[in-house]
Amino acid sequence: MLPLLLLLLVTAHSLADKPYVPTLATSPLGGLKTTSTFVLEQPRCAFTKVQSDAVIWLVVAVPKAIDNFSNSVAPGTPERAFQGFPASTPAYMTLNTTLLNYPCPKPPGEITVLRVGSETSCATDKTRPTCNGPLPGPGPYRVKFLALKGSKPVAETAWSKLITLKTALPPSSIPATGSGRSTGMIALTSILSILFAVLLAGLVAMLFFWGSHARGSSTFSKPEAVTVRRYNTHHVYDQPAARL
Ligand SMILES: *[C@@H]1O[C@H](CO)[C@@H](O)[C@H](O)[C@H]1NC(C)=O
Repeated sequence: MLPLLLLLLVTAHSLADKPYVPTLATSPLGGLKTTSTFVLEQPRCAFTKVQSDAVIWLVVAVPKAIDNFSNSVAPGTPERAFQGFPASTPAYMTLNTTLLNYPCPKPPGEITVLRVGSETSCATDKTRPTCNGPLPGPGPYRVKFLALKGSKPVAETAWSKLITLKTALPPSSIPATGSGRSTGMIALTSILSILFAVLLAGLVAMLFFWGSHARGSSTFSKPEAVTVRRYNTHHVYDQPAARL
């Protein structure tokens, strides 16, 4: 009875607070974060009290911008434009779609993710402020989903945890890594050739040994042949000598 009561309390509490927290998608194959993109789970079942024609936007912000983030600044305005992020626009809005595209519950086994930062074509195009452009650095960033009805905010999720992207290797470390790898390759190749040479030498030695052993056994039959031949020769030479 008590666990059930607790569960009811927790459910009621979560419905009141809409505590859906945007989360990074996970994959057993990895590779969901790059130096300029990351993959989020779609906000399925995050907006249960909102009409299905509401438009869901993703807000991407630098951490220090979340305290005075205003959800009533409209998307598509210079204040929310991707092209100014993060220097003049500490939060931008992108990936708008109607709630109809996030059906709840999601069918089991279906992959329902969003890649943030995947649109390179509009990254510098100021006429497309809602561009889902590549993120300008490793971050960290925080994101939230915002539901708008017309231009009025009707619901929002909590902010995600800090999202930090992969760091591009500094250019100076790339040749070092490259030469390190080629040194390794050279060492491996040398070891392999030495092993191969040793193996070949062993094979040659074995063949030689076999050969000489075979020749050794044939010398056993040769003296007989020689003896026989010599015997015959002796016999042949003997007889005329005896007759003379
Ligand atoms: C998303 O926003 C763009 C730019 O404001 C708009 O042209 C497009 O119709 C919107 N799409 C949806 C599904 O709301």
